[in-house]
Amino acid sequence: MEFQIALLKGDGIGPEIVDSAVAVLEAVGRKFGHTFHFTPYLAGGCAIDATGVPLPDETVAGCKASDSVLLGAVGGPKWDTLPGNLRPERALLGVRSALGLYTNIRPAKLYPALKSECPLRGDIVDRGVDLVMIRELTGGIYFGERGRRTGKMGEEAYDTECYSVGEVERIARVAFETARKRSKKVTSIDKANVLESSRLWREVVHRVAAEYPDVACSDMLVDNAAMQLVKNPAQFDVVVTSNMFGDILSDESSQITGSIGLLPSASLGESKCGMYEPIHGSAPDIAGQNKANPIATVLSAAMMLRYSFDLEAEARCIEDAIDRVLADGLRTADIVGNTGVKPLSCTEMTDAILARIQ
Ligand code: IPM
Ligand code: MG
Repeated sequence: MEFQIALLKGDGIGPEIVDSAVAVLEAVGRKFGHTFHFTPYLAGGCAIDATGVPLPDETVAGCKASDSVLLGAVGGPKWDTLPGNLRPERALLGVRSALGLYTNIRPAKLYPALKSECPLRGDIVDRGVDLVMIRELTGGIYFGERGRRTGKMGEEAYDTECYSVGEVERIARVAFETARKRSKKVTSIDKANVLESSRLWREVVHRVAAEYPDVACSDMLVDNAAMQLVKNPAQFDVVVTSNMFGDILSDESSQITGSIGLLPSASLGESKCGMYEPIHGSAPDIAGQNKANPIATVLSAAMMLRYSFDLEAEARCIEDAIDRVLADGLRTADIVGNTGVKPLSCTEMTDAILARIQ
């Protein structure tokens, strides 16, 4: 089969990790007889430098015309002082919204080989971590009304959290469908003791839950969830939550699996065209030094094969290669811990993954 993939390499370590995922996709293509056509587009800080805007129209059009989008990371200190609507992060939010990618799937699992990298106590680690965070991605406070005005104590700034029944229903369905393929358990995370938007969220989740009597559903307040994630992460399987809570809790879950450099994500909407990206950022401190961990981006490419192209065996082939790389004791700097192992560079790790794909 043939597929068109838009590449948004972005900033910082973005180009290095995307190059790594491209090499892996090409190897999978050779092995299974598929052709992937890659077209790069500007997004983020590099787009600001070249065109003055973080998300040029050409990039949006290119993404829409592709079968899927692979993104590295955007942002960096160089662009940190720009006004909100011109920041590199606008590119990400813009693609999510332009392509209607309302579902963000962020699996977090602790690899047996990386138990020593988990910062939690041994008995907690032994119970394992294997959860999927389903984060709402095109609504909530990220896209609500915002602004500045004059208040009683001087200038004020505000952002609004707003969710509609339709938005909650569709993300809840994704969570319940996902749970049906896993251990049939959904935890919905909100702040219903304070926020009206969370009370609506909870009502709608309960209505949808009634359509899935085979799936157990429970609610958890977000502050408690932040605590439970480090106290007993094994209790979670499918987690569904709002845009901002999902942003925060997915970083927390990544750390308990050892490193944010390991976690992939898929952003999906109604069409097959999704956007795939690591959950980490552009890591400007190590950019251009060939030190980044490419695993999160390579695993994101595996998710692309699974969700956008229905290539399950090909996706598993990549995931198995990552399992073996880690089981063989190979480490990049972020996961080397105190193993005493010499950390691999980004390209060396890529080569090690490729060697396990052929
Ligand atoms: C993420 C990132 C983004 C987000 C930023 C870079 C806009 O943190 O994908 O988790 O907040 O969604
Ligand atoms: Mg984030």
